[in-house]
Amino acid sequence: MQIAVLSGATTKFGELWEQSPRSLAQEVVSQAIEQAGIEKKETQALFVGNMLAGILGGQENIGAFFADELGLEVPAVRIEGACASGGLAVHQAVLSLLTGKYQTVLILGIEKMTDYKPEEVAQALMAAGSDEERKAGLTFPGLYALMAQAHMEKYGTTEEEMAAVAVKNHFHACLNEKAQFKKEITIDDVLKSAKVADPLKLLDCSPISDGATAIILSSKFKVQSSRDKPVFIAASAVATDTLALADREDLISLKATKKAARKAYQMAGLGPEDIDLAEVHDCFTIAEIMAMEDLGFFEKGKAGQAILKGETKIGGKGPIINSSGGLKAGGHPVGATGVKQIVEVFNQLSGQAGKRQVKGAKIGLAHNVAGSGALAVVHILSNL
Ligand code: COA
Repeated sequence: MQIAVLSGATTKFGELWEQSPRSLAQEVVSQAIEQAGIEKKETQALFVGNMLAGILGGQENIGAFFADELGLEVPAVRIEGACASGGLAVHQAVLSLLTGKYQTVLILGIEKMTDYKPEEVAQALMAAGSDEERKAGLTFPGLYALMAQAHMEKYGTTEEEMAAVAVKNHFHACLNEKAQFKKEITIDDVLKSAKVADPLKLLDCSPISDGATAIILSSKFKVQSSRDKPVFIAASAVATDTLALADREDLISLKATKKAARKAYQMAGLGPEDIDLAEVHDCFTIAEIMAMEDLGFFEKGKAGQAILKGETKIGGKGPIINSSGGLKAGGHPVGATGVKQIVEVFNQLSGQAGKRQVKGAKIGLAHNVAGSGALAVVHILSNL
């Protein structure tokens, strides 16, 4: 069975104080339905990716909440998997289509974070960590700083290489009207920004953001002409690892990413050399370097130099990484992120990425991570 992405829509990501979760959802769902050229009543189920609506907003029952708000009298479920809630919601939607029970489903990724104090958000995000990590006072910048230190010690990775990730992603974000930070920065700006958790600085971190994204997937689609090439989900895979960083075999890679990528490549009958572009989970700059290596695009310890040389920037030899601006500069409303990654790959493969179009893109990958790597989701999309 082939599953096509019929449409994808996203709100701007950022500090959207004038918008509520209801208005964000209405905006993207109506756009996604219109773009798909279907009636709302044709969607047979709703999958909502969200992490923090309960812990920050006090509203847990959000599958039903959004079905009601959107006027959809369909089965609705909320999928929670920390920062990978969006990717997991897409995965569950794909599985539901594969059973044959549904033919057309709606996925909504949504998060509202900036209405709360930064310390409340940092604490809420740590609900994705282990008990011991919380008791030790660790936060996600702290956990990824430990991984950065281990990577630097083992491979000689430098702060300049990490800064180059932020510089590239801010450049890409300037080409994306929906991105949070449309401002170019330099390596020097990153190196001189305030320390958050050594060696990570403010400009090495993804921000706290609001945003919503919706996609419609269908196993029942019509090809109008030979020029009309649908974008298919070629693979959807999930893998897990230990919750606590201290229980891992090493701190220089994410086993969940490697396992999910291996399964996804196998499912699609493809390898890392076939990928034209990827949206990867750059919650911190070191995370993009590790993802490049764990997804098989570069040997361990070699990704930093390739990023510094501009190989992964639009116009570089590729694969092009985070053409949307990634989490770093595009924004990271956690439950929406994994769905937005799929929208970016869909837009690229259907030639709708405007100023940031990667020429001739045929195969793209989306990589979404929960917490410090306890779970990873990898999707491969193709227009072949
Ligand atoms: N990148 C670039 N600029 C950023 C930024 C980021 N990540 N975060 C904030 N800024 C900017 C703000 O826009 C603001 O600019 P302005 O003064 O021109 O308006 C300025 O920096 C200060 O912003 P503020 O909101 O006071 O920052 P903060 O100190 O409260 O938060 C971080 C900064 C990095 C600590 C916060 O963004 C954070 O915790 N990020 C990580 C989120 C996370 O862990 N996500 C889960 C990943 S697994």
